[in-house]
Amino acid sequence: MRRITLSRYLIEEQREKGKINADLRLLIEVVARACKRIAIAIGKGGLGEVLGEAGSDNVQGEAQKKLDVLSNDIFLEANEWGGHLAGMASEEMELPHAIPNRYPQGEYLLLFDPLDGSSNIDINVSVGTIFSVLRSAEGCDPTQSEAFLQAGTEQVAAGYAVYGPTTLLVLTVGNGVVCFTLDRELGSFVLTQENLQIPPETQEFAINMSNMRHWETPVKRYIDELLAGKTGPRGKDFNMRWVASMVADVHRIMTRGGIFLYPLDSKIAAQGGKLRLMYEANPMAFIVEQAGGAATTGHGRILDLQPSGLHQRVPVILGSKNEVAIVDSYHRKA
Ligand code: AHG
Ligand code: MN
Ligand code: MN
Repeated sequence: MRRITLSRYLIEEQREKGKINADLRLLIEVVARACKRIAIAIGKGGLGEVLGEAGSDNVQGEAQKKLDVLSNDIFLEANEWGGHLAGMASEEMELPHAIPNRYPQGEYLLLFDPLDGSSNIDINVSVGTIFSVLRSAEGCDPTQSEAFLQAGTEQVAAGYAVYGPTTLLVLTVGNGVVCFTLDRELGSFVLTQENLQIPPETQEFAINMSNMRHWETPVKRYIDELLAGKTGPRGKDFNMRWVASMVADVHRIMTRGGIFLYPLDSKIAAQGGKLRLMYEANPMAFIVEQAGGAATTGHGRILDLQPSGLHQRVPVILGSKNEVAIVDSYHRKA
């Protein structure tokens, strides 16, 4: 069997398909290396000094876990010296991180959620990392948030790592979606799935049901109909899953289909949603669309949104195409 490592895959994408250049290849390799380091840190669990609260809040007023801070530091340290980046922005930092003057500047902008699913760290449930890559536009200052405020359609690459029973890296450079599994003995990511496709039909949904009383009418109607099962308007039974790590919920959908919703509700209406556009919704929407799925806010395609802030939050509805279309149509009717 031909064993294709991430490095080989990227070299072939560059050399044979001309899909990426050397800088983007380096960027993805460095991100993958950072994810390996995060996987190792997470794997230490109670044996390392990695669990528990950091004792600080991030810009969004959320309490940071030690691993949120550590993962963010790993990403910054790994990515600042390679010369491939113009700037970085993260869930854990209010403002973009400038590339120190002593290093060369590149053309790319990297955005990331260093540790997604923080509430699952201390209970040994899958967590992950999400990243998005944009090009730094001519004349923009990459030390300012404005440089990053580009629509999701401008992404040149996106991916996520899942730190679960195995460590996976799922990646798109706009040429379909591929999945690599970390070979722990060799320390390299090996291609284990090509051309991931989300089935258009599904009987599985993911939503935090405890927010039901706060939902808007279209989402309430949609979920009510799923819950009504075989004898309801949908004429079939639906199963429910909610890991509460977006990476794990999205990865399930990438594997066997499904629909994921973190809709707007009256509790979070003022902040626009729960999930962050630039480093959660956009990269996941890019990946899901590249796998034949769909991603919407209920009022339009996520990737078409013109961002207004680095930490902007949006409603997210993504996954199997036909289900997402139904939720969209309920929003239009409402
Ligand atoms: P993060 O840990 O990066 O702040 O993200 C957590 C997100 C997402 O991963 C997950 O889908 C959602 O929050 C879970 O929210 P609830 O706890 O409200 O279910
Ligand atoms: Mn997150
Ligand atoms: Mn996070």
